[in-house]
Amino acid sequence: MTFDIKPFDAAHGAEVHGVDLSKPIDNETFERIERAYNKYAVLLFRDQKINEEQHLGFSRQFGKLEVHVLDQYLHPNHPEILVVSNIKEGDRHIGIYDAGRYWHTDLSYMKRPSRGSLLYAIEVPHDDEGNPLGDTLYTSSSAAYDALPKKMRKLIDGLNAEFSLANRHAKLIADGDTEAVLSDKHQDKVPPVVHKVVRSHPITGRKSIYVNEGQTAKILGVPDDEAQDLLESLLAHVSKDEFIYRHKWHVGDVLMWDNIPTQHLAICDYELPQRRLLHRTTLKGAEPI
Ligand code: OGA
Ligand code: MN
Repeated sequence: MTFDIKPFDAAHGAEVHGVDLSKPIDNETFERIERAYNKYAVLLFRDQKINEEQHLGFSRQFGKLEVHVLDQYLHPNHPEILVVSNIKEGDRHIGIYDAGRYWHTDLSYMKRPSRGSLLYAIEVPHDDEGNPLGDTLYTSSSAAYDALPKKMRKLIDGLNAEFSLANRHAKLIADGDTEAVLSDKHQDKVPPVVHKVVRSHPITGRKSIYVNEGQTAKILGVPDDEAQDLLESLLAHVSKDEFIYRHKWHVGDVLMWDNIPTQHLAICDYELPQRRLLHRTTLKGAEPI
């Protein structure tokens, strides 16, 4: 198969032109895609038309898939698909409606965080002029790490931090989300974990800032007030414009990202009756190194 990979004019990311994900992907094509994925961290495939099996099939070429802990948002027939949506059926949200409210990386609150995620856009909200709403921002946390002063890199290289899903939930509640639910059952499944503040990529070896706004409760091993200042300054640094690729969604986009050298944030600038519906598969990952 002949196809092109065009880097974005941004700190990371590239678009893959000429691959139809509804068809089987031969080994050579897959290997090129995988190399590009490791190199660019965010890959976009536009104008795709894939059903659930095809989405799962392509995702599985990268490895095993997660079943998300928030089981109320799983696709009813395909538990390895997480429904990301603001749509309601009666009182029930059919999907996770606040997936990316804070900067985060998927499943960083687990002992083995996700390697990557693949999001497929089925419905995209628009403003009155037809411009897409609900953009997603991707920051290169590896470029952000590289841009830190040497002294700061040295300071944070050896530090650990606590991550938890409960932290994100507490932030949602504090920010006035009255519908956010985190049951004891869910919380028990994902107790707080400790990861390094700086993660090394298992394939590229690149380091990245792993602490994130949504899921990092605190940096450990330094006095509390210093830890808070340090966390805030790292979060402010990693979310600077110069490291960000902003994705404007179109129906048919498949966007896949590496959860190690990136963080992402959803812009919630739409509301019903503007509908948003995406399907996500989530690649299992290994314990951070
Ligand atoms: C996700 C996520 C952001 C968005 O699916 O992991 O954070 O814009 N989504 O929906
Ligand atoms: Mn996410």
